[in-house]
Amino acid sequence: DWDAPHIKDILIKEVQEKVGPTDHVLVGLSGGVDSTVVATLLTKALGANRVHCVFVDNGLLRKNEFENVLESYHRIGLNVKGVNASQEFLSELKGKEDPEDKRKTIGRVFIEVFDKSYDHALPIKWLAQGTLYPDVIESVSSVGGSVTIKSHHNVGGLPEKMKLGLVEPVRELFKDEVRALGAQLSLPREMLWRHPFPGPGLAIRVLGEVTEEKLKILKEADDVYISELRRRGLYDNIWQAFCVLLPVKTVGVQGDARTYDHVLALRAVTSSDGMTADWYPFDFKFLSEVSNLITNKVKGVNRVVYDVTSKPPGTIEWE
Ligand code: XMP
Repeated sequence: DWDAPHIKDILIKEVQEKVGPTDHVLVGLSGGVDSTVVATLLTKALGANRVHCVFVDNGLLRKNEFENVLESYHRIGLNVKGVNASQEFLSELKGKEDPEDKRKTIGRVFIEVFDKSYDHALPIKWLAQGTLYPDVIESVSSVGGSVTIKSHHNVGGLPEKMKLGLVEPVRELFKDEVRALGAQLSLPREMLWRHPFPGPGLAIRVLGEVTEEKLKILKEADDVYISELRRRGLYDNIWQAFCVLLPVKTVGVQGDARTYDHVLALRAVTSSDGMTADWYPFDFKFLSEVSNLITNKVKGVNRVVYDVTSKPPGTIEWE
């Protein structure tokens, strides 16, 4: 029973037994709930000096996200190193349009950056990951055959290349159970109740080729949208909300000038585990006000649309 108050103690004991008394562990932090809970659990189990956390800025995070989240990590006592690798990711993504190609590129660059980011003289024998039960299922599941839906999540890849053993303490848990565990570990509410955010970040929300200019537009629009959700108390009713910058330009009129700018899609879904999802029924007033705010404030967007597709048949992300 994962809701039992002693789940924390069971997992701490499991980690201590697996890692042993002297080995050190490496953790890749993403800013999300899962890796934060895993890093905190490990730190409780092994002590901060044996748990080396790395937080990579891939340039694909939300506006001000890297600075804010790094500060929170310090506040909760993690032994964390921030690494800025934005330019490496952006230059490798140059010219790439295909979603799988983009995902694989980001995965590869991440491994390179991550591998260089820690002191190899340390007795690091393990890599900890925040793999959840749905990640395990979706990675082996298929649509009527043996094809994976997307090169998804953070399952596999890393540890073989880095010759490290794998520690996945929340592998049998669903998201709500990880949040409950995080609460048992006294993590602040705002860190536990964040919407999920994909590993490839905003790169899969700028459809087609990712450029610095498009990322900037998306970050600004996303900031307006998410701030409005929070301000109106809607954020916590929604599993995940975000903007998608479409590779389509349309004609508009702003002031008395003709514009030819991007279309931006808003997405918001409810879900309990990300495996299926329903689009969120905002009232028209909200959609209209957010659309006005975005087209007024964000240069480069002259049209806003709302995605009314559930999962299935859509996925939550657009790429
Ligand atoms: P989809 O788009 O497949 O997404 O319906 C289901 C959930 O998974 C997140 N997602 C990812 N998370 N790495 C991650 O860590 C990824 O490559 C990835 N792709 C999708 C997505 O945001 C949603 O919450």
